[in-house]
Amino acid sequence: MGVRSDIMEAIERTKLKTKNILRMDDLPSREEAEPLFKVASYLEPIWRTGGLNLLPGKVLATLFLQPSTRTRLGFEISMNKLGGRVIAESMPSVTSRMASGESLEDTLQTLSAYVDIIAMRHPDPDIALKAVEEGARVPVISGGFGGYEHPVAGYTDLYTIWRTFGEIDGLTVLILGPDHVKSRVAHSLALGLTKFKTKIVLATEEARRTPKGVIQKLKDKKANFTEHLNPSRSQIEELVWDSDVVYLSAFVPCVPEEEPERSEWIERASKYHLNLELVEKARKELGKTIRIMHPLPRLPHIEMDHALDGTDHALYWKQVDLAQPIRMAMILSILFGT
Ligand code: CP
Repeated sequence: MGVRSDIMEAIERTKLKTKNILRMDDLPSREEAEPLFKVASYLEPIWRTGGLNLLPGKVLATLFLQPSTRTRLGFEISMNKLGGRVIAESMPSVTSRMASGESLEDTLQTLSAYVDIIAMRHPDPDIALKAVEEGARVPVISGGFGGYEHPVAGYTDLYTIWRTFGEIDGLTVLILGPDHVKSRVAHSLALGLTKFKTKIVLATEEARRTPKGVIQKLKDKKANFTEHLNPSRSQIEELVWDSDVVYLSAFVPCVPEEEPERSEWIERASKYHLNLELVEKARKELGKTIRIMHPLPRLPHIEMDHALDGTDHALYWKQVDLAQPIRMAMILSILFGT
């Protein structure tokens, strides 16, 4: 079988054609997730070179109502590399008619007349999910809806683990940070890991623990998971040592804007800081390389020791790289042949 028929078969097996991707469950099991990884791995060399004319005449719109560096620009580059075109509304609350009170439903209905697919970010998951259902007439990919889910990050993270370890089964993944309420990336990764035979360890502050809805889904899926609340620094170090992957769940969405709350919050959260010494010591004593992931952006020097950058512990820049073929694989699986 040639590469072309291989990739066509993998696209088919994602079952994403003309579908939305709004949550991790939109690819219900590993039977659909692994083909997405396969499509992404075929696209990796294409992303790194000039691209391919696979989606001529197709247009993607980006509609981002929250700030973004990676997701919005990444979708725009991905569509360009696939031979499609892009229109971008990067500040819709200022420059679109939403500034005059037009609803998100009507905005999506209008965009659906112009484009073939929409990548969107929104601060309120209820508003966003309802508007997609009622207004969108073309597929929508969520680039993060409030504190709900971020499936693009979730599948990027799974793909990064898959590409690094060669498999996801059998690993222990620690999802660590002071606030798991708003960490949509943490929710998506935990839910995504349930498709595999992994041990999921959640560690956070009791007042900011993972939402009940996510915990219930983990239970419904019979996930192998534990939750550690208000861990001490020494407990955090033990959890790190017991892990194959430490996923820092990102401070940025949860840091208060205002002083003095900001400095107090950062002080309280400092016990979650990850340093090179800790993982290097684990390598010496346990003979294993603990991998560190982070969705970015990070607060400079607060969440982690930047000396980790450039070491084989750090996967976060690899996540940035591997998000590209994942975004391309999502767009292609949804639009190819439509
Ligand atoms: N990780 C992530 O979603 O990055 P952006 O907020 O820059 O898109």
